[in-house]
Parts: sequence; C-alpha cells; structure tokens
Amino acid sequence: MAASDCTQVLPRIVRSPAKLNLFLEVTGRRADGFHELETVMVRTDVCDTLMFHVQQDKQICLSLLNPSCDGIHSAAVGFPLDDSNLIVQAAQALQKLTGCSLGAQIHVHKLIPGQAGLGGGSSNAAVTLNALNELWKLNLSSSVLHKVAASVGSDVNFLLSGYRAALCTGRGEQIHALHKTGTQHGVLLVPAVGNSTSEIFQALGGAFGQQKTTPVIDYLSTGIVPQDQVLCFNRLQSVAEKLNPAVSRTLSWLKEKTGAAHLTGSGSGCFSLVSSAVEARRLARRFKGTELALATAFRI
Ligand code: C5P
Repeated sequence: MAASDCTQVLPRIVRSPAKLNLFLEVTGRRADGFHELETVMVRTDVCDTLMFHVQQDKQICLSLLNPSCDGIHSAAVGFPLDDSNLIVQAAQALQKLTGCSLGAQIHVHKLIPGQAGLGGGSSNAAVTLNALNELWKLNLSSSVLHKVAASVGSDVNFLLSGYRAALCTGRGEQIHALHKTGTQHGVLLVPAVGNSTSEIFQALGGAFGQQKTTPVIDYLSTGIVPQDQVLCFNRLQSVAEKLNPAVSRTLSWLKEKTGAAHLTGSGSGCFSLVSSAVEARRLARRFKGTELALATAFRI
C-alpha cells in the first residue's frame, strides 16, 4: 500500500492538552460584550486524546472512548456530542471556509473536565483544526487557522499556537509567546460542579483592575520565585468563590496545605504550584473532598 493511502485508513491520534491561567486580569468590558484580558497561559501535561478517521461524506461524527461515562465524577459527563461541541464547530468552520466535502469520525478520550477553566473544549477544537487541515489536505496557513480559531472561542488560539507559555490579550485570542525555562510542578483539583464562563464574567460587574504581569513573566523565564510580589493572580477568583462554594472549599484546603491556591480561568479548577512531582502526587491523593471531577499532579 502506498504511504498516501495509509492516511485514509489509519487513525490520526493526537494529545489535546489542558491550559492553566497562572495570571488573569480583567481590564475592562468591550463594546461587543466580551472583556479585555491580560492573561498568562501555560500548557500542562494533563491531556485528552483524540482519534481522527477521515470520512468520504461531510458528516462529523463524535463519540467518547471513556470506558464508563455514568459515574458522576467522570470528565465525560456533560460532554456534548452534537453541534454545540467545539470540535464539531471547528470542523464545520473548516468545511465552510474551504468547501471541503470530506468529513470525519472523531473518538475522544476525555480526561479534562468541562466548565473547569482548563480550556478542554478549546484544546480539542485547536487539535481538530490542525489534524483536519492535514488529513483533508487543505493546506491552510497558520494565520488562516488562527482566524478560524478566534471564531470558535477565545482560548483556542493559545492552544493552537503550541507555545508552552504566552501572554494573551484582547479577549484572550491575541497571543504573545513567553520564554519559559525548566519544568514546574503543581496539583490540580477540579470540583464536580463547574462554572459558567459567561455567568462568572457577568457577576464580576465592573470590578476591573491593573494587576501587573511582570512577576509571573519573570518567574517563567528564570524559574526564580520573586520576593514580596504577587506571582499567580486571578481577578475572577473571588466571584467564583461566591458563586460556587465547592471552589471556596477546594481553595481553602489547597491554601492550608501549600500556602497559596489559585483559580484557573473562570474555574471551577483550582491549583497550587509545589516544589516537586512527589509533593504534587501526594497532595492529589490526599484531598478528602467527595465532590471532585479530577484530582491530579501536573507539570508545566
Ligand atoms: O470565547 P468563549 O466562548 O470562551 O467565551 C464564553 C463566554 O465568556 C462569552 O460568551 C462571554 O460571555 C465570556 N467572555 C468574556 N470575555 C472574554 C472571554 C469570555 O466576557 N474575554
């Protein structure tokens, strides 16, 4: 069989990483209803896995590979398989732009919970854009893919970029790569009750700010924790704690154990940076809450 035929029959298997917002400041509200952000995002090693098969008709068929989807703590619970899924929206956006008449069967092994501030859906959309651009032989440039990404969601561009770390501005879709040195470890706890991003932004009202990104950017490039300066910060954290008591409980537990705990994005995921992988794993095992969608060590 010729090599080019193999791409028709063998699935393309891709890892789809979660992001964390180490820093998130909201500086204002825009005329289009979105909020103006300054956020420092990093890619983590917590990943979903997506498997792509090309189909000769235009259908985009999604299915889940998780062995059991009925436990209330499974990340797959609530994962839509219809047109509301960002994977389907990304694929359809490519079809619309190019007139491509091919389709795809996409199997998803879901580890990243939804409504967690981890960009799971956005990451799935980003890998879909890259995979189908190749499998459908569309030859779209990176800048065209980024335009499509921005139309799918505010976090898709960072995950499409492949950068380990970036300062993201605008509504989050403008990406400026950051230098990142070494590997940092952390523990991530995601309450089973998720947060609605639009509700969290709405509840923020006009409580905007001007917290500086400099300390966290310096930390990523040097690995040195700055003295007496705010490193991780999230303007949405106090709102999320008020709207979701599980976030408040999880942050308190993490803070007690590690000294500092943070929300990622609009939550409900909470994390602490710790000194080693062993410490991160120990803490992930120790959380006594009964209401988690995910408890894991991570690397950035
Ligand atoms: O872009 P995305 O689909 O992730 O946004 C979800 C919702 O979060 C938006 O409809 C909007 O209500 C809110 N949002 C915002 N400002 C941003 C990003 C998201 O108000 N920068």
